[in-house]
Amino acid sequence: MLRGASLAFGTRTLWSGLDLDIKPGEFFAVLGPNGSGKTSFLKVLLGLLPLTSGSANVAGHAAGTRGRDVGYVPQQKGFPTDVPLRARDLVALGVDGHQWGIRVRRRKVESAVDELLGRVGASSYAKVPVGQLSGGELQRLRVAQAIAGSPRVLLCDEPLLALDLNHQQGVSALIDRQRAETGAAVVFVTHEINPILDYVDRVLYLAEGQFRVGSPEEVMRTEILSELYGSRVEVSRIHGRIVVVGLPDATTHLHHGHALPSEDESAEEKEGAER
Ligand SMILES: Nc1ncnc2c1ncn2[C@@H]1O[C@H](COP(=O)(O)OP(=O)(O)OP(=O)(O)O)[C@@H](O)[C@H]1O
Ligand SMILES: [Mg+2]
Repeated sequence: MLRGASLAFGTRTLWSGLDLDIKPGEFFAVLGPNGSGKTSFLKVLLGLLPLTSGSANVAGHAAGTRGRDVGYVPQQKGFPTDVPLRARDLVALGVDGHQWGIRVRRRKVESAVDELLGRVGASSYAKVPVGQLSGGELQRLRVAQAIAGSPRVLLCDEPLLALDLNHQQGVSALIDRQRAETGAAVVFVTHEINPILDYVDRVLYLAEGQFRVGSPEEVMRTEILSELYGSRVEVSRIHGRIVVVGLPDATTHLHHGHALPSEDESAEEKEGAER
C-alpha cells in the first residue's frame, strides 16, 4: 500500500503522488521503459529504498520490516562460474531460511526442495553448479526460491527475462498458480505484457516521470500511452496479444516479437478491440 508516494534521485523524479492499494490475491504488473523506476518501485516495497515522500506498507507493516512476508525474484544477474553452490542449494536457501523460524530437519528440507525444483521444471539440473547454468535455468531457480516460503507478497523483477517462450508461459502460470493457491499479491515487473495478459488484474505503467494505473484494457491504449510518452504511440491487439508500436526508445520496450502489422490490419484490429 502506497500513500502519496514519490521517489526522486537528485532533481529527477521517477514518480510522484502515487496512491496504491494492491490487494491479496491480486496480480499487479509494472511496465515502463528502461530507467523508468520499475526496479526502484520494488525496492521501495522491499524497504531497500526510502521514499522521497509518502509512505509504503506491505502486508500491514512498514515496508522492509517483515521479511518473511515477502518473496523476491531479483532482476537477473549471473553467478561467477566458480561459486560452490548447486542449483538445489540455491532453492534450499529459500526453504530453510526463515519459513519455520528455526531450521527444519534436513530430510524435510530435501523433499521441499525436490518438490519446488519439480514445480519450476528444474529437477534435471538440480545438482549442476549455479555458475554453469543458463540465464533461463537460473531464473527458474530464483522463482522457486522466492515462492518457497509461501510469502504473502511476491515481488518479481523481470522474471521472464532470458526465458524462451515455453518457459515464459510456464513461469507465468506457476507464479499465477502460487497467487491463486496462497492468496499472495503478485507484483510483476515486465517489459513484455503478453505472457501474463491472461493473469493481470491491473497495470502500473511508468514513463517520463508519470504513471497510469488501471486494467490492461484501460492503460494499454493508444491515447493513454501517447499521453504518457508525450509522442504518438500506437497500441493494437492482434490475436489477443498487445502490440505497441512507436515507442520513443524502441530497443527498450518490445512488447512483441512479430513484424509490425500493416496499417489496415491494425486499424481493423483496433475497431475489433473496442467493440
Ligand atoms: N540509488 C540510486 N541513486 C541514484 N539513482 C538511482 C538509484 N537507483 C536507481 N537510480 C536511477 O533511477 C532510474 C530508475 O532505475 P530503475 O532501476 O528503477 O529502472 P527500471 O525501470 O527498473 O529500468 P530497467 O528496465 O532497465 O530495469 C535509473 O535512471 C537509475 O539510474
Ligand atoms: Mg529494473
